[in-house]
Amino acid sequence: MLLCVAAGTLHAAGPTPLFAQNGVVASRSPIASEVGVEIMRTGGNAVDAAVATGFALAVTYASVVFFFVWGFLLIHTAEGEVVANDHREKAPLAATHDMYLDEEGEVVEGLSTASPLAVGVPGTVDGLLAALERHGTISRREAIAPAVRLARDGFPLPHDIAQQLASRREAFAEHPATLAVFSKPDGEPFAAGDLFRQPDLAATLERIAEQGRDGFYQGETADLIVREMEQIGGLVTREDLAAYRSAWREPVRGTYREHEIVAMPPPSSGGVLLVQMLNMLEPFDVRGSGFGSAATIHRMIEAERRAYADRAVHLGDPDFYDVPIGLLTSKDYALERLADFNPKAASSSDDVAAGQLPPEGPETTHVSVMDAAGNAVAYTTTLNFSFGAKMVVTGAGFLLNNEMDDFSARPFTPNAYGLIGGEANAIAPGKRMLSSMTPTIVLKEGKPWLVTGSPGGSTIITTVLQVIVNAIDHGMDLGDAVAAPRFHHQWQPNRVIVERHGISPDTRALLEAMGHEQLVEIRWGRGIGDANSAMRAPAGLTAVADPRNAGGAAGL
Ligand code: DON
Repeated sequence: MLLCVAAGTLHAAGPTPLFAQNGVVASRSPIASEVGVEIMRTGGNAVDAAVATGFALAVTYASVVFFFVWGFLLIHTAEGEVVANDHREKAPLAATHDMYLDEEGEVVEGLSTASPLAVGVPGTVDGLLAALERHGTISRREAIAPAVRLARDGFPLPHDIAQQLASRREAFAEHPATLAVFSKPDGEPFAAGDLFRQPDLAATLERIAEQGRDGFYQGETADLIVREMEQIGGLVTREDLAAYRSAWREPVRGTYREHEIVAMPPPSSGGVLLVQMLNMLEPFDVRGSGFGSAATIHRMIEAERRAYADRAVHLGDPDFYDVPIGLLTSKDYALERLADFNPKAASSSDDVAAGQLPPEGPETTHVSVMDAAGNAVAYTTTLNFSFGAKMVVTGAGFLLNNEMDDFSARPFTPNAYGLIGGEANAIAPGKRMLSSMTPTIVLKEGKPWLVTGSPGGSTIITTVLQVIVNAIDHGMDLGDAVAAPRFHHQWQPNRVIVERHGISPDTRALLEAMGHEQLVEIRWGRGIGDANSAMRAPAGLTAVADPRNAGGAAGL
Protein backbone atom coordinates (compact mmCIF):
# COMPACT_ATOMS: atom_id res chain seq x y z
CA MET A 1 0.00 0.00 0.00
CA LEU A 2 1.09 3.50 -0.66
CA LEU A 3 1.84 5.82 2.21
CA CYS A 4 1.78 9.38 1.00
CA VAL A 5 2.50 12.46 3.08
CA ALA A 6 1.66 16.00 2.04
CA ALA A 7 3.26 18.61 4.25
CA GLY A 8 1.26 21.76 4.99
CA THR A 9 2.78 24.59 3.02
CA LEU A 10 2.68 28.33 3.28
CA HIS A 11 1.94 29.28 -0.32
CA ALA A 12 -1.07 31.46 -0.80
CA ALA A 13 -2.64 29.51 -3.69
CA GLY A 14 -3.92 26.88 -1.28
CA PRO A 15 -2.65 23.45 -0.42
CA THR A 16 -3.13 20.52 -2.72
CA PRO A 17 -5.40 18.03 -1.00
CA LEU A 18 -4.07 14.54 -0.57
CA PHE A 19 -6.08 11.78 -2.25
CA ALA A 20 -6.25 8.25 -0.87
CA GLN A 21 -8.66 5.34 -1.13
CA ASN A 22 -8.63 3.66 2.26
CA GLY A 23 -8.10 6.24 4.96
CA VAL A 24 -6.85 9.76 5.66
CA VAL A 25 -5.59 11.70 8.67
CA ALA A 26 -4.94 15.46 8.78
CA SER A 27 -3.27 16.91 11.87
CA ARG A 28 -0.85 19.57 13.06
CA SER A 29 1.99 17.02 13.07
CA PRO A 30 3.00 14.97 9.99
CA ILE A 31 4.51 12.33 12.30
CA ALA A 32 1.24 11.97 14.24
CA SER A 33 -0.76 11.77 10.99
CA GLU A 34 1.49 8.95 9.81
CA VAL A 35 0.94 7.14 13.12
CA GLY A 36 -2.81 7.20 12.46
CA VAL A 37 -2.43 5.96 8.89
CA GLU A 38 -0.14 3.16 10.02
CA ILE A 39 -2.83 2.02 12.47
CA MET A 40 -5.38 1.90 9.63
CA ARG A 41 -2.87 0.13 7.36
CA THR A 42 -2.63 -2.70 9.88
CA GLY A 43 -6.42 -3.06 10.09
CA GLY A 44 -7.55 -0.40 12.56
CA ASN A 45 -10.53 1.86 11.91
CA ALA A 46 -10.75 5.67 11.99
CA VAL A 47 -11.39 5.70 15.75
CA ASP A 48 -8.28 3.60 16.42
CA ALA A 49 -6.35 5.97 14.15
CA ALA A 50 -7.71 9.10 15.86
CA VAL A 51 -6.83 7.78 19.33
CA ALA A 52 -3.31 6.73 18.29
CA THR A 53 -2.84 10.10 16.55
CA GLY A 54 -4.08 11.84 19.70
CA PHE A 55 -1.54 10.06 21.90
CA ALA A 56 1.22 10.69 19.33
CA LEU A 57 0.34 14.40 19.21
CA ALA A 58 0.87 14.51 22.96
CA VAL A 59 4.51 13.73 22.16
CA THR A 60 5.11 15.48 18.83
CA TYR A 61 3.10 18.68 19.25
CA ALA A 62 4.70 19.82 22.44
CA SER A 63 2.92 23.10 22.99
CA VAL A 64 -0.59 21.78 22.99
CA VAL A 65 -1.42 18.29 23.76
CA PHE A 66 0.47 16.97 26.76
CA PHE A 67 -1.99 15.11 28.89
CA PHE A 68 -3.05 17.67 31.40
CA VAL A 69 -5.60 18.69 28.85
CA TRP A 70 -8.93 17.88 27.35
CA GLY A 71 -10.74 17.57 24.08
CA PHE A 72 -13.96 16.93 22.21
CA LEU A 73 -14.20 13.85 20.03
CA LEU A 74 -17.02 13.52 17.51
CA ILE A 75 -17.38 10.05 16.01
CA HIS A 76 -19.45 8.82 13.08
CA THR A 77 -19.43 5.03 12.90
CA ALA A 78 -19.69 2.93 9.77
CA GLU A 79 -23.11 1.82 11.07
CA GLY A 80 -24.34 5.43 10.97
CA GLU A 81 -24.29 6.22 14.70
CA VAL A 82 -22.93 9.64 15.71
CA VAL A 83 -21.68 10.21 19.25
CA ALA A 84 -19.76 12.92 21.06
CA ASN A 85 -17.21 12.28 23.79
CA ASP A 86 -16.81 15.32 26.04
CA HIS A 87 -13.55 15.16 27.98
CA ARG A 88 -13.54 18.83 28.88
CA GLU A 89 -11.70 19.70 32.08
CA LYS A 90 -13.74 20.26 35.21
CA ALA A 91 -13.20 22.90 37.86
CA PRO A 92 -11.47 21.36 40.90
CA LEU A 93 -13.75 20.59 43.86
CA ALA A 94 -12.07 23.40 45.79
CA ALA A 95 -12.89 25.99 43.08
CA THR A 96 -15.23 28.83 44.04
CA HIS A 97 -17.51 31.24 42.18
CA ASP A 98 -15.34 34.31 42.86
CA MET A 99 -11.90 32.72 43.03
CA TYR A 100 -10.37 35.17 40.53
CA LEU A 101 -11.73 38.36 42.16
CA ASP A 102 -10.00 40.62 44.68
CA GLU A 103 -11.68 42.17 47.71
CA GLU A 104 -13.15 44.94 45.58
CA GLY A 105 -14.68 42.37 43.24
CA GLU A 106 -12.23 43.12 40.42
CA VAL A 107 -10.73 40.31 38.33
CA VAL A 108 -7.08 39.78 39.33
CA GLU A 109 -5.11 39.69 36.10
CA GLY A 110 -3.28 36.47 35.34
CA LEU A 111 -4.90 34.36 38.05
CA SER A 112 -7.06 32.37 35.61
CA THR A 113 -4.38 32.17 32.92
CA ALA A 114 -0.86 32.16 34.34
CA SER A 115 -1.12 30.84 37.88
CA PRO A 116 -1.51 27.43 39.57
CA LEU A 117 -5.18 28.33 40.04
CA ALA A 118 -5.64 28.28 36.23
CA VAL A 119 -5.44 24.49 36.10
CA GLY A 120 -8.59 22.43 35.51
CA VAL A 121 -8.98 18.66 36.12
CA PRO A 122 -7.86 17.00 32.86
CA GLY A 123 -9.94 14.71 30.68
CA THR A 124 -7.86 13.58 27.70
CA VAL A 125 -6.73 10.19 28.98
CA ASP A 126 -10.23 9.17 30.08
CA GLY A 127 -11.80 10.45 26.86
CA LEU A 128 -9.39 8.79 24.42
CA LEU A 129 -9.52 5.47 26.28
CA ALA A 130 -13.34 5.57 26.54
CA ALA A 131 -13.58 6.16 22.77
CA LEU A 132 -11.18 3.32 22.05
CA GLU A 133 -13.11 0.91 24.27
CA ARG A 134 -16.46 1.85 22.79
CA HIS A 135 -15.69 2.28 19.10
CA GLY A 136 -12.14 1.05 18.51
CA THR A 137 -10.90 -2.38 17.49
CA ILE A 138 -7.28 -2.39 18.69
CA SER A 139 -5.91 -2.75 22.21
CA ARG A 140 -4.91 0.13 24.44
CA ARG A 141 -1.28 -0.96 24.19
CA GLU A 142 -1.37 -0.95 20.39
CA ALA A 143 -2.91 2.53 20.37
CA ILE A 144 -0.32 3.99 22.75
CA ALA A 145 2.80 2.11 21.58
CA PRO A 146 3.75 4.58 18.78
CA ALA A 147 3.53 7.49 21.26
CA VAL A 148 5.71 5.63 23.77
CA ARG A 149 8.32 4.99 21.06
CA LEU A 150 8.31 8.62 19.93
CA ALA A 151 8.72 9.86 23.50
CA ARG A 152 11.36 7.29 24.49
CA ASP A 153 13.47 7.23 21.30
CA GLY A 154 12.81 10.83 20.30
CA PHE A 155 12.18 12.44 16.93
CA PRO A 156 13.92 15.26 15.05
CA LEU A 157 12.45 18.51 16.30
CA PRO A 158 10.61 20.32 13.48
CA HIS A 159 11.61 23.90 12.79
CA ASP A 160 8.31 25.44 13.99
CA ILE A 161 8.35 23.67 17.37
CA ALA A 162 12.04 24.48 17.89
CA GLN A 163 11.15 28.14 17.29
CA GLN A 164 8.27 27.98 19.77
CA LEU A 165 10.55 26.50 22.42
CA ALA A 166 13.25 29.11 21.81
CA SER A 167 10.81 32.01 22.01
CA ARG A 168 9.47 30.89 25.40
CA ARG A 169 12.70 30.17 27.23
CA GLU A 170 12.18 33.01 29.68
CA ALA A 171 8.77 31.73 30.74
CA PHE A 172 10.06 28.14 30.96
CA ALA A 173 12.96 29.25 33.16
CA GLU A 174 10.50 30.14 35.93
CA HIS A 175 9.68 26.45 36.42
CA PRO A 176 12.68 24.05 36.57
CA ALA A 177 10.77 20.98 35.34
CA THR A 178 9.53 22.90 32.30
CA LEU A 179 13.01 24.12 31.42
CA ALA A 180 14.39 20.59 31.87
CA VAL A 181 11.91 19.08 29.38
CA PHE A 182 12.25 21.82 26.81
CA SER A 183 16.08 22.18 26.88
CA LYS A 184 18.88 19.82 25.89
CA PRO A 185 20.49 17.82 28.73
CA ASP A 186 23.30 20.40 28.89
CA GLY A 187 20.74 23.20 29.37
CA GLU A 188 21.26 24.60 25.86
CA PRO A 189 18.17 25.37 23.73
CA PHE A 190 17.10 22.84 21.12
CA ALA A 191 17.65 23.63 17.46
CA ALA A 192 15.59 22.36 14.53
CA GLY A 193 16.61 18.80 13.70
CA ASP A 194 17.84 17.96 17.23
CA LEU A 195 16.59 14.66 18.62
CA PHE A 196 13.80 15.50 21.12
CA ARG A 197 13.46 12.74 23.70
CA GLN A 198 10.98 12.80 26.62
CA PRO A 199 11.76 9.92 28.99
CA ASP A 200 9.40 11.05 31.79
CA LEU A 201 6.52 11.35 29.33
CA ALA A 202 7.41 7.91 27.90
CA ALA A 203 7.11 6.45 31.40
CA THR A 204 3.75 8.18 31.95
CA LEU A 205 2.50 6.80 28.62
CA GLU A 206 3.71 3.32 29.56
CA ARG A 207 1.76 3.48 32.83
CA ILE A 208 -1.38 4.44 30.85
CA ALA A 209 -0.75 1.62 28.34
CA GLU A 210 -0.38 -0.88 31.20
CA GLN A 211 -3.06 0.27 33.62
CA GLY A 212 -5.53 2.25 31.51
CA ARG A 213 -7.12 5.28 33.16
CA ASP A 214 -5.69 4.24 36.53
CA GLY A 215 -2.22 4.76 35.07
CA PHE A 216 -3.04 8.46 35.00
CA TYR A 217 -5.82 9.21 37.50
CA GLN A 218 -4.44 6.96 40.28
CA GLY A 219 -1.07 5.65 41.44
CA GLU A 220 2.27 7.10 40.45
CA THR A 221 1.08 9.65 37.89
CA ALA A 222 -1.61 10.97 40.25
CA ASP A 223 1.00 11.15 43.03
CA LEU A 224 3.31 13.22 40.81
CA ILE A 225 0.44 15.56 39.84
CA VAL A 226 -0.71 16.06 43.42
CA ARG A 227 2.86 16.63 44.62
CA GLU A 228 3.29 19.29 41.93
CA MET A 229 -0.03 20.91 42.91
CA GLU A 230 1.06 21.04 46.56
CA GLN A 231 4.37 22.61 45.59
CA ILE A 232 2.99 25.30 43.31
CA GLY A 233 -0.24 25.94 45.21
CA GLY A 234 -2.75 24.46 42.75
CA LEU A 235 -6.18 23.07 43.63
CA VAL A 236 -6.31 19.69 41.84
CA THR A 237 -6.41 16.86 44.40
CA ARG A 238 -6.28 13.05 44.34
CA GLU A 239 -10.07 13.11 44.80
CA ASP A 240 -10.52 15.38 41.74
CA LEU A 241 -8.42 13.02 39.62
CA ALA A 242 -10.09 9.82 40.81
CA ALA A 243 -13.57 11.29 40.22
CA TYR A 244 -12.98 12.54 36.66
CA ARG A 245 -15.05 10.81 33.96
CA SER A 246 -15.61 11.93 30.37
CA ALA A 247 -19.23 12.19 29.23
CA TRP A 248 -20.95 10.73 26.16
CA ARG A 249 -23.32 13.33 24.76
CA GLU A 250 -25.85 13.61 21.95
CA PRO A 251 -24.35 15.73 19.18
CA VAL A 252 -26.06 18.93 18.07
CA ARG A 253 -27.74 18.43 14.70
CA GLY A 254 -28.88 20.82 12.01
CA THR A 255 -29.33 20.98 8.27
CA TYR A 256 -27.91 23.30 5.64
CA ARG A 257 -28.90 23.13 1.98
CA GLU A 258 -29.44 19.34 1.77
CA HIS A 259 -26.54 18.60 4.09
CA GLU A 260 -26.78 17.38 7.66
CA ILE A 261 -24.58 19.14 10.19
CA VAL A 262 -23.45 17.13 13.21
CA ALA A 263 -21.41 19.04 15.76
CA MET A 264 -20.30 19.24 19.38
CA PRO A 265 -23.00 20.00 21.96
CA PRO A 266 -22.53 22.00 25.21
CA PRO A 267 -20.26 22.46 27.08
CA SER A 268 -19.08 23.48 23.64
CA SER A 269 -20.78 26.57 22.32
CA GLY A 270 -19.51 25.58 18.89
CA GLY A 271 -22.19 23.20 17.62
CA VAL A 272 -25.10 25.38 18.73
CA LEU A 273 -23.61 28.57 17.28
CA LEU A 274 -22.58 26.85 14.04
CA VAL A 275 -26.09 25.52 13.39
CA GLN A 276 -27.60 28.84 14.45
CA MET A 277 -25.38 30.81 12.04
CA LEU A 278 -25.97 28.39 9.16
CA ASN A 279 -29.72 28.72 9.77
CA MET A 280 -29.36 32.50 9.54
CA LEU A 281 -27.46 32.17 6.24
CA GLU A 282 -29.72 29.60 4.59
CA PRO A 283 -32.44 32.01 3.37
CA PHE A 284 -29.73 34.18 1.82
CA ASP A 285 -28.24 33.50 -1.64
CA VAL A 286 -24.64 33.12 -0.48
CA ARG A 287 -23.48 31.55 -3.73
CA GLY A 288 -25.07 34.27 -5.88
CA SER A 289 -23.70 37.00 -3.66
CA GLY A 290 -20.21 35.50 -4.07
CA PHE A 291 -17.17 34.65 -1.98
CA GLY A 292 -15.58 37.65 -0.31
CA SER A 293 -18.20 40.15 -1.48
CA ALA A 294 -19.25 42.91 0.91
CA ALA A 295 -22.85 41.60 0.84
CA THR A 296 -21.81 38.07 1.85
CA ILE A 297 -19.41 39.25 4.55
CA HIS A 298 -22.04 41.66 5.92
CA ARG A 299 -24.65 38.90 6.18
CA MET A 300 -22.16 36.58 7.89
CA ILE A 301 -21.05 39.26 10.36
CA GLU A 302 -24.66 39.97 11.33
CA ALA A 303 -25.32 36.25 11.87
CA GLU A 304 -22.15 36.01 13.97
CA ARG A 305 -23.06 39.09 16.02
CA ARG A 306 -26.42 37.61 17.02
CA ALA A 307 -25.15 34.09 17.70
CA TYR A 308 -22.26 35.24 19.91
CA ALA A 309 -24.62 37.53 21.84
CA ASP A 310 -26.70 34.45 22.64
CA ARG A 311 -23.56 32.55 23.64
CA ALA A 312 -22.80 35.06 26.38
CA VAL A 313 -26.12 34.49 28.09
CA HIS A 314 -27.48 31.07 27.21
CA LEU A 315 -24.54 28.68 27.05
CA GLY A 316 -22.71 26.78 29.76
CA ASP A 317 -22.15 23.26 31.11
CA PRO A 318 -25.43 21.37 30.50
CA ASP A 319 -24.85 19.38 33.71
CA PHE A 320 -25.23 22.65 35.63
CA TYR A 321 -27.30 24.90 33.40
CA ASP A 322 -30.34 24.21 31.26
CA VAL A 323 -29.09 25.24 27.80
CA PRO A 324 -32.02 25.85 25.38
CA ILE A 325 -30.38 23.88 22.54
CA GLY A 326 -33.61 23.13 20.67
CA LEU A 327 -34.70 26.76 20.60
CA LEU A 328 -31.32 28.17 19.66
CA THR A 329 -30.84 25.75 16.77
CA SER A 330 -34.35 26.00 15.28
CA LYS A 331 -34.90 27.55 11.85
CA ASP A 332 -37.77 29.70 13.19
CA TYR A 333 -35.58 31.20 15.87
CA ALA A 334 -32.93 32.07 13.27
CA LEU A 335 -35.51 33.89 11.16
CA GLU A 336 -36.77 35.78 14.17
CA ARG A 337 -33.23 36.65 15.24
CA LEU A 338 -32.44 38.11 11.85
CA ALA A 339 -35.79 39.87 11.40
CA ASP A 340 -34.12 43.27 11.85
CA PHE A 341 -31.33 42.50 9.36
CA ASN A 342 -30.65 45.47 7.10
CA PRO A 343 -28.81 44.48 3.92
CA LYS A 344 -27.38 47.97 3.67
CA ALA A 345 -26.28 48.75 7.22
CA ALA A 346 -24.46 47.18 10.15
CA SER A 347 -26.41 46.80 13.37
CA SER A 348 -24.68 47.88 16.60
CA SER A 349 -23.47 45.58 19.38
CA ASP A 350 -24.33 46.59 22.93
CA ASP A 351 -21.95 48.99 24.55
CA VAL A 352 -19.85 46.58 26.65
CA ALA A 353 -16.16 47.15 27.46
CA ALA A 354 -14.03 45.70 24.67
CA GLY A 355 -12.15 42.47 25.22
CA GLN A 356 -8.57 41.88 24.19
CA LEU A 357 -7.34 39.95 21.18
CA PRO A 358 -5.79 36.63 22.17
CA PRO A 359 -2.32 37.30 23.59
CA GLU A 360 -1.02 33.91 22.40
CA GLY A 361 -0.92 32.19 19.03
CA PRO A 362 -3.57 29.60 18.24
CA GLU A 363 -2.44 26.58 20.22
CA THR A 364 -5.36 24.28 20.21
CA THR A 365 -5.20 21.62 17.54
CA HIS A 366 -7.61 19.68 15.38
CA VAL A 367 -7.40 16.21 13.83
CA SER A 368 -9.71 14.88 11.08
CA VAL A 369 -9.81 11.18 10.21
CA MET A 370 -11.88 9.21 7.70
CA ASP A 371 -11.75 5.59 6.60
CA ALA A 372 -13.22 3.77 3.62
CA ALA A 373 -15.79 1.91 5.73
CA GLY A 374 -17.57 5.17 6.66
CA ASN A 375 -16.06 5.82 10.09
CA ALA A 376 -15.10 9.45 10.63
CA VAL A 377 -13.65 11.30 13.59
CA ALA A 378 -13.34 15.01 14.32
CA TYR A 379 -11.10 15.60 17.33
CA THR A 380 -10.14 18.98 18.80
CA THR A 381 -7.86 19.20 21.83
CA THR A 382 -6.00 21.92 23.75
CA LEU A 383 -4.10 23.15 26.80
CA ASN A 384 -5.77 26.55 26.16
CA PHE A 385 -2.84 28.97 25.64
CA SER A 386 0.39 27.94 24.04
CA PHE A 387 2.11 25.65 26.58
CA GLY A 388 -0.89 26.12 28.93
CA ALA A 389 0.20 27.24 32.40
CA LYS A 390 3.82 26.70 31.20
CA MET A 391 4.44 24.33 34.11
CA VAL A 392 5.51 20.72 33.56
CA VAL A 393 4.60 18.17 36.27
CA THR A 394 7.99 17.21 37.72
CA GLY A 395 8.81 13.59 36.89
CA ALA A 396 5.71 13.07 34.73
CA GLY A 397 6.86 15.07 31.71
CA PHE A 398 3.64 16.84 30.74
CA LEU A 399 2.36 20.41 30.94
CA LEU A 400 -0.47 21.78 33.06
CA ASN A 401 -3.38 23.50 31.30
CA ASN A 402 -4.79 26.96 31.97
CA GLU A 403 -8.37 26.19 31.01
CA MET A 404 -10.04 27.80 34.02
CA ASP A 405 -9.89 31.07 32.06
CA ASP A 406 -12.69 29.76 29.86
CA PHE A 407 -15.08 30.27 32.77
CA SER A 408 -16.62 33.67 33.22
CA ALA A 409 -14.55 35.00 36.17
CA ARG A 410 -17.05 37.82 36.69
CA PRO A 411 -20.32 38.41 34.84
CA PHE A 412 -19.68 40.11 31.52
CA THR A 413 -15.96 40.68 32.03
CA PRO A 414 -14.08 39.43 28.94
CA ASN A 415 -11.73 36.44 29.15
CA ALA A 416 -8.50 36.09 27.18
CA TYR A 417 -10.45 35.69 23.93
CA GLY A 418 -12.61 38.74 24.63
CA LEU A 419 -15.56 36.43 25.30
CA ILE A 420 -18.05 37.43 27.93
CA GLY A 421 -20.54 35.35 29.85
CA GLY A 422 -22.92 35.34 32.74
CA GLU A 423 -24.17 32.91 35.36
CA ALA A 424 -24.53 30.06 32.84
CA ASN A 425 -20.73 29.93 32.66
CA ALA A 426 -19.85 30.95 36.23
CA ILE A 427 -17.35 28.85 38.20
CA ALA A 428 -18.65 25.97 40.35
CA PRO A 429 -16.85 22.92 41.75
CA GLY A 430 -16.90 20.02 39.29
CA LYS A 431 -18.40 22.17 36.51
CA ARG A 432 -17.05 22.23 32.94
CA MET A 433 -16.11 25.61 31.49
CA LEU A 434 -17.76 26.71 28.24
CA SER A 435 -15.73 26.07 25.09
CA SER A 436 -15.72 27.25 21.50
CA MET A 437 -14.15 24.07 20.15
CA THR A 438 -16.25 22.81 17.24
CA PRO A 439 -15.33 19.38 15.89
CA THR A 440 -17.86 18.90 13.08
CA ILE A 441 -18.95 16.23 10.62
CA VAL A 442 -21.10 17.25 7.64
CA LEU A 443 -23.15 14.42 6.11
CA LYS A 444 -24.25 14.29 2.48
CA GLU A 445 -26.79 11.69 1.47
CA GLY A 446 -26.44 10.29 4.97
CA LYS A 447 -22.69 9.63 4.75
CA PRO A 448 -19.77 11.59 6.21
CA TRP A 449 -18.71 14.12 3.60
CA LEU A 450 -16.65 16.80 5.36
CA VAL A 451 -14.77 16.45 8.66
CA THR A 452 -13.44 19.68 10.10
CA GLY A 453 -12.61 21.73 13.20
CA SER A 454 -9.98 24.22 14.29
CA PRO A 455 -8.07 25.95 17.07
CA GLY A 456 -8.38 29.69 17.62
CA GLY A 457 -10.39 30.35 20.79
CA SER A 458 -13.48 32.36 19.94
CA THR A 459 -12.58 32.27 16.22
CA ILE A 460 -12.96 28.49 16.05
CA ILE A 461 -16.70 28.59 15.38
CA THR A 462 -16.49 31.15 12.60
CA THR A 463 -13.55 29.28 11.05
CA VAL A 464 -15.64 26.09 10.87
CA LEU A 465 -18.59 28.11 9.51
CA GLN A 466 -16.42 29.50 6.71
CA VAL A 467 -14.95 26.11 5.74
CA ILE A 468 -18.50 24.73 5.46
CA VAL A 469 -19.90 27.72 3.54
CA ASN A 470 -16.87 27.67 1.21
CA ALA A 471 -17.43 24.00 0.46
CA ILE A 472 -21.24 24.00 0.19
CA ASP A 473 -22.12 27.46 -1.14
CA HIS A 474 -19.01 28.36 -3.08
CA GLY A 475 -18.34 24.82 -4.30
CA MET A 476 -14.66 24.98 -3.37
CA ASP A 477 -12.60 21.82 -3.17
CA LEU A 478 -11.20 20.95 0.24
CA GLY A 479 -7.86 22.69 -0.29
CA ASP A 480 -9.45 25.98 -1.32
CA ALA A 481 -12.21 25.78 1.31
CA VAL A 482 -9.54 25.55 4.01
CA ALA A 483 -7.02 27.98 2.52
CA ALA A 484 -9.45 30.79 1.58
CA PRO A 485 -8.98 34.00 3.64
CA ARG A 486 -11.08 34.28 6.81
CA PHE A 487 -12.66 36.98 8.93
CA HIS A 488 -14.29 36.89 12.36
CA HIS A 489 -16.84 38.80 14.42
CA GLN A 490 -18.04 37.88 17.92
CA TRP A 491 -20.57 40.55 18.93
CA GLN A 492 -18.27 41.94 21.61
CA PRO A 493 -15.81 43.51 21.15
CA ASN A 494 -17.63 45.13 18.24
CA ARG A 495 -15.01 44.68 15.54
CA VAL A 496 -14.33 42.48 12.56
CA ILE A 497 -10.98 40.72 12.50
CA VAL A 498 -9.68 40.01 9.00
CA GLU A 499 -6.68 38.07 7.79
CA ARG A 500 -3.90 39.98 6.09
CA HIS A 501 -4.83 40.41 2.42
CA GLY A 502 -8.17 38.83 3.38
CA ILE A 503 -10.40 41.53 1.89
CA SER A 504 -9.81 43.91 -0.98
CA PRO A 505 -9.69 47.69 -0.40
CA ASP A 506 -12.97 48.22 -2.28
CA THR A 507 -14.74 45.51 -0.25
CA ARG A 508 -13.42 47.14 2.91
CA ALA A 509 -14.76 50.50 1.74
CA LEU A 510 -18.20 49.02 1.07
CA LEU A 511 -18.30 47.36 4.51
CA GLU A 512 -17.20 50.57 6.21
CA ALA A 513 -19.93 52.47 4.39
CA MET A 514 -22.46 50.01 5.85
CA GLY A 515 -21.19 50.82 9.33
CA HIS A 516 -18.65 48.02 9.93
CA GLU A 517 -16.11 50.58 10.94
CA GLN A 518 -13.70 48.51 12.97
CA LEU A 519 -12.05 46.17 10.48
CA VAL A 520 -8.86 45.03 12.16
CA GLU A 521 -6.13 43.03 10.47
CA ILE A 522 -4.88 40.27 12.75
CA ARG A 523 -1.37 40.70 14.01
CA TRP A 524 -0.78 37.42 15.80
CA GLY A 525 0.17 34.09 14.25
CA ARG A 526 -0.26 33.29 10.60
CA GLY A 527 -3.99 33.66 10.33
CA ILE A 528 -7.34 32.75 11.82
CA GLY A 529 -7.65 29.08 12.71
CA ASP A 530 -5.87 25.93 11.59
CA ALA A 531 -8.56 23.71 10.10
CA ASN A 532 -6.96 20.34 9.30
CA SER A 533 -9.82 18.72 7.40
CA ALA A 534 -10.89 15.65 5.43
CA MET A 535 -13.54 15.14 2.76
CA ARG A 536 -15.13 12.36 0.75
CA ALA A 537 -14.73 13.21 -2.94
CA PRO A 538 -16.02 11.24 -5.95
CA ALA A 539 -12.53 9.79 -6.52
CA GLY A 540 -11.90 8.76 -2.91
CA LEU A 541 -10.96 10.44 0.35
CA THR A 542 -9.09 13.73 0.54
CA ALA A 543 -7.34 15.45 3.41
CA VAL A 544 -5.48 18.67 3.92
CA ALA A 545 -3.42 20.35 6.62
CA ASP A 546 -4.32 24.03 6.89
CA PRO A 547 -1.52 26.02 5.15
CA ARG A 548 -1.59 28.60 7.97
CA ASN A 549 0.60 26.30 10.08
CA ALA A 550 2.94 23.37 9.74
CA GLY A 551 1.12 20.06 9.72
CA GLY A 552 0.54 17.13 7.46
CA ALA A 553 -2.07 15.00 5.81
CA ALA A 554 -1.40 11.31 5.31
CA GLY A 555 -3.38 8.59 3.61
CA LEU A 556 -3.38 5.04 2.37
O1 DON B 1 -12.22 25.74 24.63
C1 DON B 1 -11.96 26.84 24.16
O2 DON B 1 -12.78 27.51 23.57
C2 DON B 1 -10.54 27.38 24.30
N1 DON B 1 -9.92 26.84 25.47
C3 DON B 1 -9.78 27.06 23.06
C4 DON B 1 -8.37 27.59 23.12
C5 DON B 1 -7.76 27.74 21.79
O3 DON B 1 -8.35 27.52 20.76
C6 DON B 1 -6.35 28.18 21.80
N2 DON B 1 -6.00 28.71 20.54
N3 DON B 1 -6.02 29.89 20.29
